[in-house]
Amino acid sequence: MRPLSLITASPAETEDLGRRLGSILKKGIFIALKGELGGGKTCFTRGIVAGSAPESSYLVASPTFAIMNEYPGTPPLYHFDFYRLACGHEIAELGFEDYFNGHGICIAEWADRLGELLPEDRLEITFTIAGEERRTISFEASGPDSLTLIERLVQGIPTE
Ligand SMILES: Nc1ncnc2c1ncn2[C@@H]1O[C@H](COP(=O)(O)OP(=O)(O)OP(=O)(O)O)[C@@H](O)[C@H]1O
Ligand SMILES: [Mg+2]
Repeated sequence: MRPLSLITASPAETEDLGRRLGSILKKGIFIALKGELGGGKTCFTRGIVAGSAPESSYLVASPTFAIMNEYPGTPPLYHFDFYRLACGHEIAELGFEDYFNGHGICIAEWADRLGELLPEDRLEITFTIAGEERRTISFEASGPDSLTLIERLVQGIPTE
């Protein structure tokens, strides 16, 4: 399947797209957020939390210093930012592996740092800066669960 590529023209549009995804998430999903600094990963995550666990969405900030923030919900959401971590080995030492393939939803910024620890079935979302306010957001599935998620997301997107 070719990657699904969408363009947003404001932070609000990116957050809204995240909200659509957040509202259809199921437990065990792993979302790998990739792409350049300031691409919109945290902005998109704020939308995901708003769609999935609305009562805690106002809390969303980059977990760069905490590495992981947890948002209570059913299922719970775990938002990681691996920017400061060098490799999967360091991440394994911190015990984060236990969250992956678990009962929550994992959203990871700079997920490429995970290397071999990356779950096989994951939804990869890549953010590219296409202008001052424009972002290209590409979705790619690497297994059956993430593929189903993209299909459901596409169904919910208005064509006009
Ligand atoms: N279409 C857009 N979507 C998302 N953010 C946008 C958009 N246009 C402008 N922005 C701005 O880009 C910035 C995105 O920042 P954000 O923290 O979400 O990026 P990030 O990918 O998490 O960066 P980092 O890699 O540093 O964690 C915000 O300041 C936001 O206002
Ligand atoms: Mg961020």
